Amino acid sequence: MIFTMITLRPLEDADAAVVASWIDDGEALVMWSGKAGFTWPFDGGQLLGFRAADPARRLLVAPGPGGRPVGHVMLRPGGAPRSLRLGLVLVAPEARGRGHGEALVRAALAAAFSDPDVERVTLGVYAHNHGARRLYERLGFREEAAHPGSVQVGETWWTSVTMALPRPPALRG
Ligand SMILES: CC(C)(COP(=O)(O)OP(=O)(O)OC[C@H]1O[C@@H](n2cnc3c(N)ncnc32)[C@H](O)[C@@H]1OP(=O)(O)O)[C@@H](O)C(=O)NCCC(=O)NCCS
Repeated sequence: MIFTMITLRPLEDADAAVVASWIDDGEALVMWSGKAGFTWPFDGGQLLGFRAADPARRLLVAPGPGGRPVGHVMLRPGGAPRSLRLGLVLVAPEARGRGHGEALVRAALAAAFSDPDVERVTLGVYAHNHGARRLYERLGFREEAAHPGSVQVGETWWTSVTMALPRPPALRG
């Protein structure tokens, strides 16, 4: 098995347009960003504005060869004490299916749990996003709740699923 290693760095202004270019249409935008408030047509300026509106949103990219991002992820306070929320998980379309997504989320979890006060990481994923759900389950996330009618896309209401991962025992102090 090939184990892909990935490092994360803060998103730089010039990265935002690259990340935005990975979103093909309005449906893909909702699938990726849920209720973040982005609108189609999407652009890098919206991503930078989203961060500027709340500096607690840590936008991180995984640089590929040459430093150009191949993945993007966000960590932010999770709404509950000692909890972080993982979001905006995205891999460049041409780089998918090679383990980058798994490496990206692993690196984000390592960053999250490097804070000894963090006991849980949670995320939201749409129920029909089967590939993403399999990825999160492989990494130990478990479904906590389903929220039917979470968002309307065209004529269809999408169900969202909340998943959570407790701090792994090996990382307990
Ligand atoms: C979800 C997403 C981040 C996954 O990224 P990815 O880089 O394709 O993820 P991985 O490569 O780790 O895993 C994807 C599949 O490739 C397989 N894979 C991994 N390495 C592989 C390799 N070397 N050869 C063949 N297959 C491989 C995995 O087993 C997995 O298979 P599965 O779908 O049957 O479970 C990506 O599809 C994406 O950006 N989607 C759009 C945005 C989105 O929906 N984000 C999630 C919001 S909650």
